[in-house]
Amino acid sequence: MTLTIYLGEIWHAIEGGGSASGVNLETFEHGALVINAQGKIEACGDDKNLLTRYPQAQRVELGGRIILPGFIDLHLHMPQLDIVGSYGESLLGWLDKYTFPHEIKCQDETYARTSSERLFQLLLAHGTTTSVIFSATYKTSAEQCFQTAFDLGCRAIIGKVAMDRNAPEALCQGVSAHVADEEELIKNWHGRDQRLFYALTPRFAISTSEEMLEALGDTFQKTPGLYMQTHLSENKDEVKIVKKLFPKAPHYLGVYAKYGLLSHRSLFAHGIHLSDEERALMKESAGKIVHCPTSNAFLGSGFFPMTELRQDGILVGLGTDIGGGTSFSLWQTMLMSYQLQKLMGSSVTPSYLFYLATLAGAKCLGLEKDLGNFACGKNADFQVIDYKQGSGLLSQGEFSGLCPEERLFRLITLGDDRITRQVYIAGRQVLNKEIL
Ligand code: GUN
Ligand code: ZN
Repeated sequence: MTLTIYLGEIWHAIEGGGSASGVNLETFEHGALVINAQGKIEACGDDKNLLTRYPQAQRVELGGRIILPGFIDLHLHMPQLDIVGSYGESLLGWLDKYTFPHEIKCQDETYARTSSERLFQLLLAHGTTTSVIFSATYKTSAEQCFQTAFDLGCRAIIGKVAMDRNAPEALCQGVSAHVADEEELIKNWHGRDQRLFYALTPRFAISTSEEMLEALGDTFQKTPGLYMQTHLSENKDEVKIVKKLFPKAPHYLGVYAKYGLLSHRSLFAHGIHLSDEERALMKESAGKIVHCPTSNAFLGSGFFPMTELRQDGILVGLGTDIGGGTSFSLWQTMLMSYQLQKLMGSSVTPSYLFYLATLAGAKCLGLEKDLGNFACGKNADFQVIDYKQGSGLLSQGEFSGLCPEERLFRLITLGDDRITRQVYIAGRQVLNKEIL
């Protein structure tokens, strides 16, 4: 059996271990990660033990570098790379003024392919190994996104946006045409290579008719293993419009529930302005919420109720929400989450923030047996980082003398894509910044 043993410092988030948050950072200062020929983790621990146990393994010495699980980004938009940093609007104005006109470009196959290539290169450059993505309304935009992920060996859950009202005509597609395109995408891509999966993707309740929601709900009920992704309660004006469009629904989440789109495989981006009843329904149905803090701050959408959701036991993961969000970096996303919670009067611990970007993401996808940390048998999705390559504040300041939790918080505060040097998915190197 071919084994590879990576030697360096190792950090990952684990559940349990006695902290108040129920989450801990497990670290091995002189660590070893043993990977088998199937790209799975054979063992993780102290190097002395593992070098003795696996003398035949091929060694890769990483010096003073740190090995971390690949990040999991649960929400972003492929067609929005070029509108990051569009000034001055809140959600609905931003959609009309910048987003919708731009997404029309994705009907062009070449543009969709180029954007998808840029997207996955950026994700890998930031240490993100699993991502959940909205394409545009066009079938080709989803195909190009899947094909690029496949070619690069990335893990991704992708959906073609369903949208048939309250948007420019060129972005809307009728129910039967959408369903036909979607069937083909599911047939060709869902479950491919055990890395790629399909997510039904109603953009949000405002842009999908009842007939569209009904059709998506039917597909969700009859096709095992699909995911469902959408936006929920991001902005107060959005919530008011949903109320007008669906007067009989008890609340915003109730719209998705009515059409069978709420389950343990449903991912709801934002979830800021939720009522007590909506939180209770979310808990009961095991739906997941994707917290997108850089987007919430940029679009002024509101303060995320992290404390309440944690108290309720609702699972939350992190999303960059590119292009409402401002960075592909999960470090920057963790930082913004920390800062916004701080403004709300609570302090989230570094290990909990790191958990949100790794193991919690895997749990939100129901993939915690396969992803999220270095437990034996999981896929070897990891990144090698070097703080010396980062911001001068990090590389020239005091870092190595601090304890791991303090160093982790420095990385959360000052880390970006510069510190990610190599990235591996299922044990295979997919990015190496040191090869020119
Ligand atoms: N709600 C509906 N569409 C979008 C989108 O593209 N971005 C964000 N942030 N919210 C949305
Ligand atoms: Zn979004």
